[in-house]
Amino acid sequence: MAELIVALDVPSTAEAVAKVETLGDSVSFYKIGMELFTAEGPEVVKAVKMRGKNVFLDLKFHDIPRTVQRAVTSAATLGVDLLTIHAAGGRAMIRAAKDAALAVGARAPKILAVTMLTSLDQTALDDLGVGRGMSEQVEALGRLALANGADGVVCSPKEVAAMRAALGPDALLVTPGVRPAGAAVGDQKRVATPADAVRDGSTHLVVGRPILQADDPCAAARAIRAEMENL
Ligand code: C5P
Repeated sequence: MAELIVALDVPSTAEAVAKVETLGDSVSFYKIGMELFTAEGPEVVKAVKMRGKNVFLDLKFHDIPRTVQRAVTSAATLGVDLLTIHAAGGRAMIRAAKDAALAVGARAPKILAVTMLTSLDQTALDDLGVGRGMSEQVEALGRLALANGADGVVCSPKEVAAMRAALGPDALLVTPGVRPAGAAVGDQKRVATPADAVRDGSTHLVVGRPILQADDPCAAARAIRAEMENL
């Protein structure tokens, strides 16, 4: 069954903990990204883990293999459950990340690859000297990541079906940009409902504002889970 991950897009550990406590049993998985981690560091990961929750550390590692290997070891030691790297770091870097994860044993974090950021367009690809079109490039990087040990990719709801077809039944497909039917879209351009995303093959949905800014965040989280389960 697909899992709901709530994006803790807040600037401090105090606010993150307040959100986790408000949501209680309605949410068991949280994403900690660059803003919060840069402000608070490992303490915020420990605070969320201490409350019995799973953590997706979304720092998008992209460096030489040895550095990424050591960063993944640090994240794994903190008890992180899912983390991101850039597929563009290349096969040796992807493999180094996976090796570091496996070295921690049973509680190894799963490695997700970011292919092309959704903020990039064809002009950006041309600037980078990438000859391929966007969807071809996204798929090629996804295949490269899985072939070198990544457990899955982050992708937009609009890419999920193609990624599922390209990467096979076991790949984790983690999807932000999800909006419950009728919800405010905010700055997300390519949105899908939770049911659409799961039907197309998402294994984890990442949702921020529709839950964190709801009048009743627990009810909003439960409604999204119901949409995910009753396809
Ligand atoms: O508030 P919202 O539901 O739009 O939050 C989605 C989360 O997923 C944010 O943390 C955002 O940074 C992240 N994300 C995204 N689109 C991507 C990659 C990540 O919205 N392409």
